[in-house]
Amino acid sequence: MTRIGLIGARGGVGGAALRYLLAAGRGQVFAAGRDPARMPAVFAGQENQVAPRKLDLFDDAELAGFCREMDVVLNCAGPSSKVLDRVVLAAAAAKRPVIDAGGYDPVFRRLKEQDGPIRAAGVPVVINAGLLPGLSGLYPRWLASQESEAPAAMEVFYAGTDRWTLISAEDIVFSLGDFGAERPPTRIEGGRPVPVPFRKAFRRLDLRPPVGKVTGFLTYTEELATLGQELGIPQIDCHGVNHGFWSGAALSLIKLCKLYRTDAQLRRSARWLARASERDLRWGTLPCFAIHCRLRWADGRSLMAEIVVGNTYEATGIIAGIATVMALEDRILPPHVGMLHQVVDPGAFLAAFRASAPILSETVPAAARDDATLAGAAHA
Ligand SMILES: NC(=O)c1ccc[n+]([C@@H]2O[C@H](COP(=O)([O-])OP(=O)(O)OC[C@H]3O[C@@H](n4cnc5c(N)ncnc54)[C@H](OP(=O)(O)O)[C@@H]3O)[C@@H](O)[C@H]2O)c1
Repeated sequence: MTRIGLIGARGGVGGAALRYLLAAGRGQVFAAGRDPARMPAVFAGQENQVAPRKLDLFDDAELAGFCREMDVVLNCAGPSSKVLDRVVLAAAAAKRPVIDAGGYDPVFRRLKEQDGPIRAAGVPVVINAGLLPGLSGLYPRWLASQESEAPAAMEVFYAGTDRWTLISAEDIVFSLGDFGAERPPTRIEGGRPVPVPFRKAFRRLDLRPPVGKVTGFLTYTEELATLGQELGIPQIDCHGVNHGFWSGAALSLIKLCKLYRTDAQLRRSARWLARASERDLRWGTLPCFAIHCRLRWADGRSLMAEIVVGNTYEATGIIAGIATVMALEDRILPPHVGMLHQVVDPGAFLAAFRASAPILSETVPAAARDDATLAGAAHA
């Protein structure tokens, strides 16, 4: 029987990935964490499909042994700022396909540095297998695939909030300082990153409920910069916002005071954000995540798509689960090593996502409507 190693199975993302993998029935899931006795009750009655495993991913020997025992490894443990490429490198060394639900910009940069040894392993490596990053790059790529000609400009807007776990909150806080890169507000112009004055870094947009009218801040991501290079899109603007009132206030304060530069600051800011997000949900803000994307061509044509999902953990776990199943089915495409949008067929991936994810609404261009409807999503 196929052996699927799931690290972080007790967490928000890992729990959702576990439910997806059990429903997919693609093998036995080895649900790993530091204390297997605390694994969730999801196991009851499914003992032949799932087995708890003790694993501390910072124990090199334990991690290497775990990877060797598995046919595929899925990492849903964090924070990604500490885990970095540990799981990816251990799985590649054991020649096992590996999917990482985190794997933000620093992991991408490290993967580029380690390109030779990882490629030599000859196994698929998929990082950014989540919502942001993940679907955030895949969705614009899918929209761009609706036309044969590359657009002249891409505008992407992310908005969302949830009850952040301390670990997710730590990664969100780390992202405020561009994962250590500390960029000014930056857009892509003529294919290159260009700084933008602070006062021009805001954009207001009216998104579908439950998000509504929001103001986002200009954000540079390696994911969209890479996508732009791959598709030949010279101009990219990406804005993002955490639209919960208290979460937004906490994040603005943390960013303005740069409270993400030391470990102690990261942990304290993560606690603030987790508490603020808790309060947002008590005040009635609904957990959700929206991706709005508009592509423009030089002749004036434009295409817009927008997707809103509820429950970011569920959606992220499902994305990581779909990527894992694709790895087992040899559906990770050349270059085999990279971010989600680089290594899967966007149409096929979205069909699987639409069939199982908690989609609240989706608006797609008329030409793509059949694809989206056939996949069974709830549509606007
Ligand atoms: N791409 C996206 O859109 C997206 C969205 C949400 C979250 N994420 C990322 O997903 C990751 C998990 O977030 P979460 O909110 O699910 O966190 P969480 O609920 O706190 O779960 C974290 C998990 O990590 C495990 N873990 C922590 N340290 C470990 C270690 N040393 N060895 C083995 N397991 C360890 C924990 O298991 P034990 O306590 O049992 O050891 C726990 O199951 C974060 O990196 C987060 O940034 C990505």
